Amino acid sequence: MENGRNITIAVLGVFTAIAMILLAYPENAPALDNKLARTPPMGWNSWATYELKIDEALIRAAADAMVSSGMKGAGYEYVIVDAGWKAKNRDDRGRLQADSVKFPSGMKALADYVHSRGLKFGLYTDAGSEDCVSGAPGSKGFEEKDASTFAEWGVDYIKEDWCNTAGMSAKEAYTKMSRAILATGRPIVFSMCEWGDNKPWKWAAPAANLWRTTGDSKDCWDCGRKTMNQPGGYPRGWVLILEAQPALASFAGPGHWNDPDLLQVGHPGLTIEESRAQFSLWAILAAPLITTNDLRSMTPEIQDILLNQEVIAVDQDVAGIQGTRVRANGSSEVWMRPLSDGSRAVVLFNRSQHSSTVRVRWTDIGRKQTDDLPVRDLWKHQNRGSRKDGYSAPVPPHGVVTIRVGPPGGRMQ
Ligand code: GLA
Repeated sequence: MENGRNITIAVLGVFTAIAMILLAYPENAPALDNKLARTPPMGWNSWATYELKIDEALIRAAADAMVSSGMKGAGYEYVIVDAGWKAKNRDDRGRLQADSVKFPSGMKALADYVHSRGLKFGLYTDAGSEDCVSGAPGSKGFEEKDASTFAEWGVDYIKEDWCNTAGMSAKEAYTKMSRAILATGRPIVFSMCEWGDNKPWKWAAPAANLWRTTGDSKDCWDCGRKTMNQPGGYPRGWVLILEAQPALASFAGPGHWNDPDLLQVGHPGLTIEESRAQFSLWAILAAPLITTNDLRSMTPEIQDILLNQEVIAVDQDVAGIQGTRVRANGSSEVWMRPLSDGSRAVVLFNRSQHSSTVRVRWTDIGRKQTDDLPVRDLWKHQNRGSRKDGYSAPVPPHGVVTIRVGPPGGRMQ
């Protein structure tokens, strides 16, 4: 009798605990079960540098450069062809086809080439009646056909945009494409691009591996502030995108990521310090690391940024916890991401146009003031010894100092 009561109490206790977790994290609906993107996808996308001026030679060259530059070795995997690849009309069986001038060998041949370099192949489409700017057909009403065409071609990643969708429900449209992709049986990462207009972080995890959280990024610091809230995803500086992320952190996790858009690293509108800052902060955000620079002509400084294994390791941490801003004091900010080994990645971010010392206190990152914690600088690749109370460093204008702070009693590798 006593035993039975104990069992009942234990069972009730477990149910209560589960209910509390579900109430605390209502966003934890079952994620898309395609077993892909367990860490944020890494790759290259043609859009921000080339827009519609793409062809098969360019994409092949990008795949080659991904290998020869060391990007592939560092973990970049997907070569993603954005808008500009489609012919203006479907074929007589209603299937999408490649623009025969720009892609005369067709998309299957291009996918084969990308695969032959040990990489994966991504392709763009749109959920509406027509792509955003190319005038080519969108996938509306053709979801099954397009998903199976992509699967036959060997596509590994589909980015679906949200232009020309008047009157459509984003949740229904993306769920339809998601099911069509799953039904092909081919493992394909599904990337939603509706610019955060319908708050996808609240509902998209069961449908997609990643969803854009804002309109397009541009290679500038904070340009576009005035126009950024207009519908349609006006381009804006990456700092404005960053500002929108803290509220979204709890919605991301393995297989379902917030996507704050492309890395502008290596584009002329960013200084080296700004490029380093965006890269570090995207790692804190567990953001997809999708570059869009010309991989064939990277300067050594840009290569050092994109190939920094210590910062990439932060982004790719298997716990998949998205970090956030833990302190903001004028133009000095501290961002933190908890990592699977108990350490914390910390970015000291100076938003001002002057050098400034930025400080993190251990209490900002969930540690005790008296804890003695080992610190490593992830850009200088140097240990900084064990510190009590916190860590301060001079940070260049629009720049970062990025550190890893070990757990109490932990040792830095
Ligand atoms: C939209 C998307 C971009 C890009 C372009 C292509 O603006 O948000 O990422 O795909 O369309 O037209």
